[in-house]
This record gives sequence, C-alpha cells and structure tokens, in this order.
Amino acid sequence: MAPHVTVYEVGPRDGLQNEPAVLSVEQKLELIAALCAAGLRNVEAGSFVSPRWIPALADSGELVSRLPRPPGVRFVALVPNVQGLSRLREALARSAAPPPVDAALFVSASETHNRKNVNKGIDETLAALVEVAAAARQGGVGLRGYVSMAWGCPYEGAVSPARVVEIARRLLELGCGQVSLGDTVGVGTPNQTRDLLERLLGPVRPEQLALHLHDTRGGALASVLVGLEAGITTFDSSIGGLGGCPYAPGASGNLATEDLVYLLRGMGYETGIDWDRLLAAGALAQELVGRRLPGKTLQAELATRSAGRTPPNPLRSV
Ligand code: HMG
Ligand code: MG
Repeated sequence: MAPHVTVYEVGPRDGLQNEPAVLSVEQKLELIAALCAAGLRNVEAGSFVSPRWIPALADSGELVSRLPRPPGVRFVALVPNVQGLSRLREALARSAAPPPVDAALFVSASETHNRKNVNKGIDETLAALVEVAAAARQGGVGLRGYVSMAWGCPYEGAVSPARVVEIARRLLELGCGQVSLGDTVGVGTPNQTRDLLERLLGPVRPEQLALHLHDTRGGALASVLVGLEAGITTFDSSIGGLGGCPYAPGASGNLATEDLVYLLRGMGYETGIDWDRLLAAGALAQELVGRRLPGKTLQAELATRSAGRTPPNPLRSV
C-alpha cells in the first residue's frame, strides 16, 4: 500500500484572510464544498480573531454555523484568545449538525512579528494561551498549533531555531494534537528544514508536526522532500497558492495544493485526492477571487486543458 500523506488545506482561512476580494459566506461555503468534494479531509475554514484586524474573515461565526458535515472531514479555525474560542463555540452551538472544528492557536517565533500580529509578546501570548487551552479542553474542542516565522522573519531576519523548538514544545504541552511549523514569508532552505526537524524529532513524533510552507522564493517543495525524508506526513497548502499574512510584508502565497499533490502523487504517495476535482476547486477559487492565482501546476493544467490538449500527466500511471 502506498504511504499516506495528509494534505491540510488552509485556503479558506490563510488563503482568504489577505485577499482584496472579500467573499460572501455563500462563496466561501461553495469553495469549501469543492475542496471537500476533491477529497481534502482537513480544511482550515475560518478565523475568530478580531474582525477589525482581519475584516475578510469577520463572518467566520456565520460560516462555521453553516459548515457541511462531509464524512471524515475535520475543520479548524484560528483562535487567538478566550473571546475567539467563545465565538467558535457559539457558532458550533448554532449549527443543527456541527462537524468537528478544532481551534488553531498561533504564536510567532519572532518577537516583532508576534507583537504586530497579536499585539503581545511571545511569552505573554503563550501565558494567555494556557487559559484558552484549558477552556477548549473543558468544551471538548480539539487544538492545533502554529509556530509562524519559524525559518526567518521580515522584521528580525534570522530566527532562533531553539526558540521555534521551545514554542512548539509549549504548544504540544498545551494539548495541541499537532503543531504546524510555518515558513510564513517563504525564506527557508532545505538545510534549515532538516536542522529544525532534527532538533524537534525524537521527543516529538513526526505525526505531531506539520510543515506549513510558503513558496515565495520557490523553495517550498524542496522542504517538503526534506520533511518526507524525516517522516513528516502532514503538509499544509492552499488551493491555487492563495494567501499571505497581512502582518508579514512579503508573505505571498502558501504552497499551492495542486503543486503539493502533483509532487506527492508523482512520488507514489497516497493522498485520497481526486485530481480533476482538485483542479476544479482551483479554477473555482480563481474565479471567486477574480484574479490569476500563483499556483504553477494549476496554471499549467488549466492552460493545457483550455488548449484542448491532454497533458502528459505522470499521475495517470500512478
Ligand atoms: P487587541 O486589539 O490587542 O485586543 O487585539 P484587545 O484584547 O485589547 O481587545 C480590543 C478589542 O478587540 C475589544 O473590542 C475586544 O472585544 C475585541 P472593543 O471593546 O474595542 O469593541 N476582540 C475581539 N473581537 C472578536 N474576536 C476576538 C477578539 N479579541 C479581542 N477574538 C487580537 C488582539 C489578538 C484580538 C488581535 O491582535 C488579532 O485579532 N490578531 C490576529 C491577526 C491575524 O489573524 N493575523 C493573521 C493570522 S497568523 C498567520 O497568518 C500565520 C499562520 O497562517 C502561519 C503561516 O502562514 O506561517 C498561522
Ligand atoms: Mg500561511
């Protein structure tokens, strides 16, 4: 049996949070439905941060209360504080048939970025998250963690890998089932990725970690390969390469889901994703935001198809 890799779709949250076109709840639900239909089983759907800070996701309460419940799908939403967790729980309580929705806690490995992102220092943020995690546990809400700027920061430059390790460890202690390491501005090199994983793995099991790579400088897939070699089996990506953090200048798109799936399936990994439906979801995302998305595979496949040619697709032989 081919080894399974989980493709963790972050487009509807990370992808849309900084998009100039603000989608309606109906449009977001249409995109989420297309992603689930393509076989994605982990989808980051919304964000319970301050609507003043991230206006594009201000309607996450309504969105979560109307989420579908496709079999096997787990959603996640960003939660910065107790108030965000209460909003998530209220939204779930309004749903007639709520799907599982975990809360994602996030901390930056850069002090400056953390302050710009959540108006608090790293230590203060971690201390405040203790209360959020306790409330989540009590309410039966699962937790995921993010360490952003884990490879480097546009404000501080180099980021201490020891600090990344410490924050990841703290998030796991808080009860996060998995911590995703974010190369938020896509500056990472494969050597750095190897170094970070070597520091973490051992006490931390590979399935407790995910890689959340941005392809800003074209290095994301190289780090995916390093992650696979180290035993990592979850990779975050965003449909069409949508995305960016508004509080991190230069943070262009996340690794595109189509680019990631093309590589994984070409290498014989099983992802449970239907290729044609994934491309349909990419085309839909592009139509909804009204701009050409940066995902290379999406653009190559759409161009070949619109020219009426069958692409020489190695996936067909997998
Ligand atoms: P603050 O202004 O310091 O908050 O923001 P505060 O506690 O002083 O409260 C100020 C006001 O905000 C109050 O309202 C609160 O009620 C309200 P007022 O009394 O003035 O009317 N408020 C809230 N409202 C709704 N929901 C809440 C909430 N909390 C407070 N949860 C805060 C602090 C954390 C809220 C703010 O800084 C914030 O929302 N930041 C989030 C920014 C963000 O979402 N950034 C992007 C996500 S991280 C990322 O992109 C990286 C990642 O994707 C990984 C990667 O890509 O590598 C994860
Ligand atoms: Mg991201």
